[in-house]
Amino acid sequence: MNRSFVRRLLCFLACLLTVTLVTADEPQGNDNQSNDKWLEPARSRLMHVIGGMPFFPHRANTPGNLVLNAKDFDSAQVCGACHTEIYKQWRTSMMSQAWDEPIYRALLKRASTATEGTVDNFCTGCHTPIGLTTGQINSQVNRSSIEDSAKNHPMPGVDCETCHNISARTGLDNGAYVLSPRAHGKPTKFGPRKDAVSPYHDTVYSALHTRSDFCGTCHNVTHPFSSVAVERTYDEWQESAYSFNNVTCQSCHMPSFAGKAAIMGPDREEVASHWFSGANAMMLKHLGQEVGAQRAREMLARAAEIQFQPLPAAIIPGQYTSVAVKVSNVGAGHKLPTGFPEGREMWIDFRVLDASGRELYRLGSIKDGKTEKNTRNFKVHIGDKDGNPLDVEVWNATQILSDNRILPKGYDIGEFSFLVPADAVGPLTLTAELNYWPFSQKLADYLLGKNQVQVEITQMAKVTQSIPLSTSLPAAGPDTAHF
Ligand code: HEC
Ligand code: HEC
Ligand code: HEC
Ligand code: HEC
Ligand code: HEC
Repeated sequence: MNRSFVRRLLCFLACLLTVTLVTADEPQGNDNQSNDKWLEPARSRLMHVIGGMPFFPHRANTPGNLVLNAKDFDSAQVCGACHTEIYKQWRTSMMSQAWDEPIYRALLKRASTATEGTVDNFCTGCHTPIGLTTGQINSQVNRSSIEDSAKNHPMPGVDCETCHNISARTGLDNGAYVLSPRAHGKPTKFGPRKDAVSPYHDTVYSALHTRSDFCGTCHNVTHPFSSVAVERTYDEWQESAYSFNNVTCQSCHMPSFAGKAAIMGPDREEVASHWFSGANAMMLKHLGQEVGAQRAREMLARAAEIQFQPLPAAIIPGQYTSVAVKVSNVGAGHKLPTGFPEGREMWIDFRVLDASGRELYRLGSIKDGKTEKNTRNFKVHIGDKDGNPLDVEVWNATQILSDNRILPKGYDIGEFSFLVPADAVGPLTLTAELNYWPFSQKLADYLLGKNQVQVEITQMAKVTQSIPLSTSLPAAGPDTAHF
């Protein structure tokens, strides 16, 4: 008890000192005004604090900023022996696969090679925090195949030991957590309970684990050199109505269940679940985690609504018609979609059929592995210094080119305009499907090789309405079709 207090006090003082040094270090002003508010403290200043970033350019810290001993960490299976339910849930999540899933490793290999290893520590500090802080990361490991590294350097993704040895944070992005195994010389787990007693490890109450800023350390990614806000899930949440109403990441991604947190522990009304369901149904299915994939589809279905704005009572053949479609973010506590900017995309697939089944119009189909040109999509686009869009090379990013993703509790209204031929057979059926994929087929083919994986398109919501053709007005002649 006492020692833990002294430790925390020391830790707090050390942080205070760091922050003071950091702010005192350089004159005011930042070279990248637009990102100022996200940087805490400004990256350029942090780099000057000797030892402030022992795993530079990642922001992970350890006690004394020393490299940790891999032997101080148990594998998740060991924890799973007692925490059976929690272990089963976590196994179906993307975070359990954060190190050895193929899209990550394919991009990591490219990033490591293209930057001559400059981003080696960076990319691994969130995808295998224990791998990085135990000194197992180097370019060779980062460029090896999943099979080779699993055999020669097995490392966990984001596992039990990662999260439950986090004792504090020093910032709000780029993995600014403090990983402290054996905080008291014995295995100590930081968790949400004040009354947890375990025969295997000490437990320490951690308010941090009950809050969103715990997740924010990894779910805010800033380019370590250009300061571009690459991923901003935490900040998106923080600026939303959810944060004001204390609906946290945990509320939606770790909803409680009634049962036991550990087999020999007490029955509890509310135990924090560890499904961590998100949106990547496609990758979970590929990894054989069908339960996790199905849960991700359900999350996606809960996130959005799609509606037609009031439609005309009848459509006049031979003329152009416009209809407006409203897409609302009703369930995601951050932008929709959020996260990995090269990939995450949501779009409307809009179709008009006539009564004979003929497709009169469609916008939002897949062409050449991508959503077709002019598709009404919701996505962030990052760019390099010359303003070229980047589909893959995020390490060259210096700016956000555009971002039309839907804010939490926000909506977007878009128009579709189409020509109804004079010989169309009424009534018409208008359908708008809201779709999502974590990355395009084209990106998957590029990273993994052609047709290695089939990217799943997940339908989030759908609306269909039928409209009669107007018979009172004469159908226009065929040459109306040319304007
Ligand atoms: C021998 C059984 C056993 C093993 C192995 C075990 N635990 Fe526990 N753990 C428990 C029990 C019992 C509790 C208390 C549960 C309760 O009070 O509901 C607990 C509680 C916890 C808590 C909650 C602490 C709090 O204060 O909220 C965390 C976190 C935790 N364990 C993590 C781990 C991790 C990580 C591992 C693997 C390194 C692990 N445990 C291995 C039995 C075990
Ligand atoms: C991404 C981080 C993360 C990972 C990975 C993770 N946990 Fe947790 N765990 C948390 C957080 C955060 C809480 C507290 C949630 C809350 O209070 O709403 C928690 C709560 C717990 C609790 C207490 C549950 C309760 O309500 O009594 C136990 C026990 C636990 N975790 C064990 C584990 C085990 C075992 C694993 C690995 C199979 C694991 N955790 C993986 C973040 C994580
Ligand atoms: C140590 C870093 C770290 C922490 C802390 C962390 N995450 Fe993650 N999380 C990741 C990484 C890395 C991935 C991506 C894994 C992948 O797809 O390769 C991820 C993925 C996810 C996903 C799945 C996204 C998808 O595409 O389906 C969800 C949901 C998620 N995290 C929620 C949380 C929540 C909630 C918390 C806090 C309780 C949290 N994370 C804390 C690193 C972290
Ligand atoms: C109000 C509920 C809610 C809150 C609060 C919330 N989320 Fe989500 N989250 C969702 C839903 C629903 C989805 C699935 C739709 C989507 O992709 O946005 C999701 C998806 C995600 C994804 C996967 C996105 C993708 O496309 O890859 C990540 C990562 C994630 N959440 C992390 C977080 C983190 C971190 C926090 C806290 C800062 C948080 N969420 C807060 C509901 C919530
Ligand atoms: C600060 C933590 C952090 C750092 C640093 C980081 N990532 Fe991630 N990464 C995440 C999180 C969180 C997600 C999940 C976001 C989501 O689900 O949309 C993710 C998702 C991804 C994905 C998508 C995986 C999938 O299956 O869809 C890839 C690929 C990826 N990261 C590659 C990288 C590379 C390459 C680097 C280094 C240039 C890097 N990451 C650095 C946290 C990080």
